[in-house]
Amino acid sequence: MDRIASPTLPVARRMEAADVARVASIEKDSFTSPWKADTFYTLLPRPGAELWVLDDPQAGVVAYAVLWCILDQAELANIAVMAGHRGRGHGRRLLTLVLDVARERGVKSVYLEVRASNERAAGLYRGFGFTHMGIRRDYYDSPVEDAILMVAKL
Ligand SMILES: CC(C)(COP(=O)(O)OP(=O)(O)OC[C@H]1O[C@@H](n2cnc3c(N)ncnc32)[C@H](O)[C@@H]1OP(=O)(O)O)[C@@H](O)C(=O)NCCC(=O)NCCS
Repeated sequence: MDRIASPTLPVARRMEAADVARVASIEKDSFTSPWKADTFYTLLPRPGAELWVLDDPQAGVVAYAVLWCILDQAELANIAVMAGHRGRGHGRRLLTLVLDVARERGVKSVYLEVRASNERAAGLYRGFGFTHMGIRRDYYDSPVEDAILMVAKL
């Protein structure tokens, strides 16, 4: 036997400029109104922005998350796992990480918006203690859909 493949977990690390092309490609495949690469480049150096990736030793960057922190509040502005890598715990792992980062920054409340039909994401958020706090009617385009506002206390 030449070698035994052992499953290895992706490494969590801060997003770098060199990751942005891959991240923007995952973004395009994940959302109907995706952020452009420039948005990620612009956010990278911002002090209140936390951009993290999961980097798999074989597949490369497979997931990313963007958190905006202002004083003791934060918004989970973006999170996505590459198609074909979902349902393997990457979303849970990344959310655990960014919420830990938020706690370290003194954040007490984290807010987010999720499409009303996005049960998979809502299930992930509920698992971390996020609760429903309101609805923004027709917030999303392509297709037009309500946003559910959620909040978690850290
Ligand atoms: C939402 C997303 C980030 C979740 O990441 P993931 O790696 O697929 O999720 P995980 O494997 O970590 O699963 C975490 C939880 O998500 C939910 N979930 C995962 N797969 C699911 C499925 N097929 N159906 C419903 N809920 C599901 C479950 O609550 C799960 O918890 P459990 O394992 O205790 O049941 C990912 O599916 C994704 O990138 N989707 C497209 C982009 C997107 O919708 N981003 C969120 C915008 S608000």
